Amino acid sequence: MREFSKEELLYLIELAKKIESSDNSDLLKGKVLTTLFYEPSTRTKLSFESAMKRLGGKVIGFSNPKESSVAKGETLFDTTKMVEGYSDVIVIRHPIEGAARLVAESSDVPVINAGDGANQHPTQTLLDLFTIVKSKGKLDGLTITMVGDLINGRTVHSLAHALSHFDVKLIFVSPKILKMPQDLLDELTIPYEETEDLQEAIKKSDILYMTRIQKERFPDPVVYESLKGVYVLNKSMLKEAKKDLKVMHPLPRVDEIATDVDSTEHAIYFEQAHNGAIMRQALLALLLGGLK
Ligand code: NCD
Repeated sequence: MREFSKEELLYLIELAKKIESSDNSDLLKGKVLTTLFYEPSTRTKLSFESAMKRLGGKVIGFSNPKESSVAKGETLFDTTKMVEGYSDVIVIRHPIEGAARLVAESSDVPVINAGDGANQHPTQTLLDLFTIVKSKGKLDGLTITMVGDLINGRTVHSLAHALSHFDVKLIFVSPKILKMPQDLLDELTIPYEETEDLQEAIKKSDILYMTRIQKERFPDPVVYESLKGVYVLNKSMLKEAKKDLKVMHPLPRVDEIATDVDSTEHAIYFEQAHNGAIMRQALLALLLGGLK
């Protein structure tokens, strides 16, 4: 996410708006996208596939490394060198931080990071920004609160970096053990506060960005068990919220948003997921030069 300037972020948001309101079904005809998913995914993988197909392109790839040559011991570098010959763009999700960077540096075709370990998830951030702009009409002036597993959650890392370009205030809500990594906080150039009190943060927020406790990143399951369920947002907790507070979540949710929130005016997380396919169309169109 550090590679994007403010102008580039705003450009992509505008491009997504344009893509949403026009027919681009031939834009990437003849182009092939490869998905290399070494970690589970529903939304990210399907929305990339949907995006590519809606632009007229084709998709190949795997989502279960056990069924690919990875199971025989092939290195990521070798897999990349193969795949770049088969496709025009690579989308990779990998449990190791920096894996997407490694692939990008060894590949002759564009590489998109669809999540690298606990590090970053930049395309999620692009669709998050798009969702905020669609629902609020702006980014500047907002108080944006991120809740949950802030140390392991890659979505909040990328989002915090991107929001640094704007005139926003951030509130980070987490238990101390799951707080935002200090090196990320040190890089932030915008005001932020850290708290454990979700209820107090709700009152001040324009956007409440809930996240799940990242079970797969805990070496000790006992520690996970002691932290799961630490924040569960329900409808009654939103009584003191601003009328136009919007609740977001990258999904999947485990238990951190009770289902009684779904039918409130505050909930925009399913719409947020839908925006993923649109923003990913914008990104693919831009990368593969299909724009007229
Ligand atoms: C997120 C991820 O993979 O980091 N999921 C997604 O892509 N929407 C969030 C999560 O898994 O908690």
